[in-house]
Amino acid sequence: MTTLERAEAAEHAMSQELDRVVVKSVIYTSGERDPRVPAPRPPDNGKLYMMGQDPRLPQMPARPTLMDFFKYRFGPANHLLQSARLAQKSGASEKVILACLVHDIAIAGFIRGDHGYWAAQLVEPYVDEEVSWAIRYHQALRFFPDESVGYQYPAMYTKLFGPDYKPEPYIERAHEYARNHKWYMTSRLLTVNDLYAFDPTVQVTLEEFTDVVGRNFKQPKEGLGLDDSPSAHMWRTIMWPTRYL
Ligand SMILES: [Fe+2]
Ligand SMILES: [Fe+2]
Repeated sequence: MTTLERAEAAEHAMSQELDRVVVKSVIYTSGERDPRVPAPRPPDNGKLYMMGQDPRLPQMPARPTLMDFFKYRFGPANHLLQSARLAQKSGASEKVILACLVHDIAIAGFIRGDHGYWAAQLVEPYVDEEVSWAIRYHQALRFFPDESVGYQYPAMYTKLFGPDYKPEPYIERAHEYARNHKWYMTSRLLTVNDLYAFDPTVQVTLEEFTDVVGRNFKQPKEGLGLDDSPSAHMWRTIMWPTRYL
């Protein structure tokens, strides 16, 4: 068996243990398999398809908050917490601190590619426009140095992507646009506080930012994802990622 076949067999065995059949979204497997080919579908064996809470995932509260998503759906948030702490220590505004706290939530719990755009859209209905703007443009700005604030091209990117990596034209355009925008420095400060090297000895808790979040993130009373905002469906997908429809 190939690695992929073994993974699919293991997955098949796993889905057999579930009461419901799970069919993965194409985006989870595209690349490992050709998205043009019909996806192999686990036999239902008389079972129903997954439509709600996946029992393999921790159950979220009835009215989830941003903090609940951090607790139940996002991977270790050290990078976000340390970046927010750094911004706070440097005396940055609460907008910058909040932007730092959530700037990579797409990587932590949703979709990696174009993560700055996804994160901006996720939070857009609930934060000041300047905050989501800063998050959106950190996607582009982090590739371009700004000597005036001591920001250099991250050495980590050379290591990760190689010395010849060049951002796509849409990233260059976004950088040009952001450079001349009145909120440029808000997004730039996000990249300045964006930690590329994590200090394992520094422990920051989510609770340190309860007040900043409380003042700057408009938590919907119905629960994040259960409201009717333009990005509610994205939060629901994070909460229930394996629903058939
Ligand atoms: Fe990022
Ligand atoms: Fe980051």
